[in-house]
Amino acid sequence: MGTVLYIKSNMKPENESKTYKMSDCFIEEYKKNNPDDQIITLDLYKENIDFLHYEDLGVVFGPKNEESKNHPILKYAYQFLNADKFVVAAPLWNLGVPAILKAYIDYICVTGITFKYTENGPVGLCNGKKALFVASRGGDYSNSGAAEYEMGERYMRTIFGFLGITDFTSVHAENVDVQGIDVDKILNDACNRAIELAKTF
Ligand SMILES: Cc1cc2nc3c(=O)[nH]c(=O)nc-3n(C[C@H](O)[C@H](O)[C@H](O)COP(=O)(O)O)c2cc1C
Repeated sequence: MGTVLYIKSNMKPENESKTYKMSDCFIEEYKKNNPDDQIITLDLYKENIDFLHYEDLGVVFGPKNEESKNHPILKYAYQFLNADKFVVAAPLWNLGVPAILKAYIDYICVTGITFKYTENGPVGLCNGKKALFVASRGGDYSNSGAAEYEMGERYMRTIFGFLGITDFTSVHAENVDVQGIDVDKILNDACNRAIELAKTF
């Protein structure tokens, strides 16, 4: 039995989010294929996640003990470490991820929990886990010139790699805000890709 952490980073209600349409397709199919797995849904807007403050630095970079597991910030890093797989749903906002997802990343990148410093530099402690990133984007970032401007998926792939998670796949829908385009078809195609991935994830 494995544990999947389903990380949601949109303030839109479930039925209005194009991103959640795809990530929910994935989760439903995943559940059918892995009925014994535990799926933990972490809706970031419903958590007490804030920007890091000065007094938090000692907590994030300081020593850890048994009590750390219940600390309001560190508990997210322990939860992350204890999961086997991750599904991250995030629309593209201003060429990056929603700020709440970045704030969450600042909560889970914790020395002594999800990574550590060594003589050779930082080393991730989350090896052997896998991640799916699900995104919808108003525009098109598929060609090499525009792809440089897409820093949401690129950032997530890089920071997960930093934590030791190199098995990182994505499903995305692009052009969803282009007038006159068949958005339903774009989303249905992306959902079908998500369903296929869910069978072997
Ligand atoms: C605050 C905000 C910023 C956005 N920035 C971008 C952007 O930089 N590039 C882009 O292509 N679309 C951008 N969009 C459009 C969203 O990526 C697009 O509408 C997406 O499908 C929304 O997904 P959702 O329905 O799950 O919220 C932005 C939307 C919002 C609300």
